[in-house]
Amino acid sequence: MSLRSAKSDANAPEPAPAVVPVHVGVIMDGNGRWATSRKLPRVEGHRRGVEALRRCVRAAREVGIRYLTIYSFSSENWSRPVGEITELMRLLKLFLRYDLAELNRANVKVRVIGERASLSSDIRDLLAEAENLTRANTGLTLVVAFNYGSRQEIAAAVTRIAQDVVAGRLKPQDVDVEMISQRLETAGIPDPDLIIRTSGEQRLSNFLLWQAAYSEFVFLPIYWPDFDKAALIAAIDEYARRDRRFGGVSACPGP
Ligand code: FPP
Repeated sequence: MSLRSAKSDANAPEPAPAVVPVHVGVIMDGNGRWATSRKLPRVEGHRRGVEALRRCVRAAREVGIRYLTIYSFSSENWSRPVGEITELMRLLKLFLRYDLAELNRANVKVRVIGERASLSSDIRDLLAEAENLTRANTGLTLVVAFNYGSRQEIAAAVTRIAQDVVAGRLKPQDVDVEMISQRLETAGIPDPDLIIRTSGEQRLSNFLLWQAAYSEFVFLPIYWPDFDKAALIAAIDEYARRDRRFGGVSACPGP
């Protein structure tokens, strides 16, 4: 995909895509590079990244996506400079404080995945408030992956299964794919159809490893702060051209 095809013409109405994925995961990458390429501090890229996140949520609602999972802070992001971590925490708090009412008005249901015990109590409270306030909403489900790592999530699920086996509640031979899925933090959420990563990097970085078994991947050559509705539609258009076989054979075999 070319950079040009992901750019928007500000005046043109965006056409609705013909095929809309139910669940889209987004790896919001390139904030730092966006900023340093403009001789700005990296945290400025994260600030602009929040604006792109707002555009992304609005666009996802407009095109009819049902689940949007955003990778906001990974388990590995703690290795960043302390000032950058502090700013990312501050931005999450601002997002939860000031965007929550609007998300609720828009019938968005917020769900949070990731380890919470090591977060500060004010962030834990805000995350819980966002989930509680929007619990009954029926529109887009916004899954916020914060302090999230897929390997850690899988390890925790395996621990719970092992505990059930030891306690005699479960037989080892009863462990199957569905049981593991139901013990992940994403239980009840359909697997992502499409995973978008911005910035041109092509890897999963510990994001939804189990859930992405049959996801389609679209890597956009733009930095996250430049993400907009046109970029989302470009990614969905590419997704719509893919032949998803889930290990089977194509319904419309080519020549
Ligand atoms: C990756 O860019 C982005 C992140 C680690 C954080 C994503 C955060 C936001 C989009 C804004 C904050 C939103 C919330 C809700 C907290 P990078 O810093 O790795 O960029 P680089 O690869 O160019 O250095």
